[in-house]
Amino acid sequence: MRILLFALLEIVLFPLQLIGSLVYTFRVRFVNMPRGISGTAYEPYMARLLLHHIGSRNDEPAERIAPHLPALSPLVLRMMMDTLVLAARWSGFRGSFLAYPGPRPSTMMTFISHRTHFVDNAVAAAAAADSPIRQFVVLGAGWDTRSYGPLPGGADLRAPLGRDSGEALRCFEVDEPPTQAAKVEALRAAGVDRGHVVFAPTDFNQQSWLESLQDHGFDPDSPAFILWEGVTMYLDDAAVDRTLSAVAGLAPGSRIAIDSLSRELVFGRTPFVVLGNYAKYAMRAFYGESWHFGISTATPARERAREFIEARGLELRSFEAFGGEADRGTPLGGLILAEVPLGQPRPSGARRSAG
Ligand SMILES: C[S@@+](CC[C@H](N)C(=O)[O-])C[C@H]1O[C@@H](n2cnc3c(N)ncnc32)[C@H](O)[C@@H]1O
Repeated sequence: MRILLFALLEIVLFPLQLIGSLVYTFRVRFVNMPRGISGTAYEPYMARLLLHHIGSRNDEPAERIAPHLPALSPLVLRMMMDTLVLAARWSGFRGSFLAYPGPRPSTMMTFISHRTHFVDNAVAAAAAADSPIRQFVVLGAGWDTRSYGPLPGGADLRAPLGRDSGEALRCFEVDEPPTQAAKVEALRAAGVDRGHVVFAPTDFNQQSWLESLQDHGFDPDSPAFILWEGVTMYLDDAAVDRTLSAVAGLAPGSRIAIDSLSRELVFGRTPFVVLGNYAKYAMRAFYGESWHFGISTATPARERAREFIEARGLELRSFEAFGGEADRGTPLGGLILAEVPLGQPRPSGARRSAG
């Protein structure tokens, strides 16, 4: 009954959503992309913003910066998002795509919520009193807001860690210069405090992110948490390898959280021949970006992830598959938390040249 009411309301509100989506698409294509600002950064951000609006996951800084991002405006947000939220509220319908942490196994509709939950937990553990982590880096940060407000569960990266030094984590964000400049401007316009975050504008294809971070005060000898969410699929194998080798050269106990698509999906192989080829075509047509990288999810996917991570000098701490495994099919991708093994000899000089 609720789902029926939701569907009816959606039909009524659809014209507004369509106009909002068209204006949004126009702004992504003709305001963002010509200025070199990421279009793909909106996808995960809008999913997190929807979870906030629907009341599943609090993300106040995301809400505050929304009207100041180049492809959005209060009117666009009203038409695209508020209508959906109204339909859900009025009908009482809470579909799995509006849930956080959402169902397991996750599906294509719920994978961003799954990924968000995995990353939230990994970041909260990094900030916990018993963690060795001292620095927090978001690579390809886009419109991520984890450095600017409390995470679900209460962890707050701005707060003193409650460890020996009494200091907070040192927060860094790395992104291409135009995207980062747009974010800094949105944070400023929204009045969100950003004084505790160091911004290191870097194009991974032109410059080593690690060298850029070090130029901005990052200490490679102090354990760091690297968040690399929603980025690997847009890079080639060599670029992913460079980043993971750079992480393997960081202080022991450092961690990296990454998500990866299934290699079978990215290259349109069985069982994703149709889905993989269609998704790549749609990505290229809409954002002018395409997928290049994936880790095989041939079952058991956890073993594929372990082999991949260990071959790059890291240890797999945890793995979760997007979608089901075995009788439920091949996962669409995976979520990986990897760690620099304690007691591992560090490659000399690797840290300033990799990345
Ligand atoms: C899909 S978005 C993910 C954003 C964010 N991590 C999140 O999950 O909300 C990909 C991000 O990677 C950044 N990116 C892509 N290629 C890059 C490059 N060559 N150098 C630096 N950043 C890059 C984009 O600007 C964008 O912010």
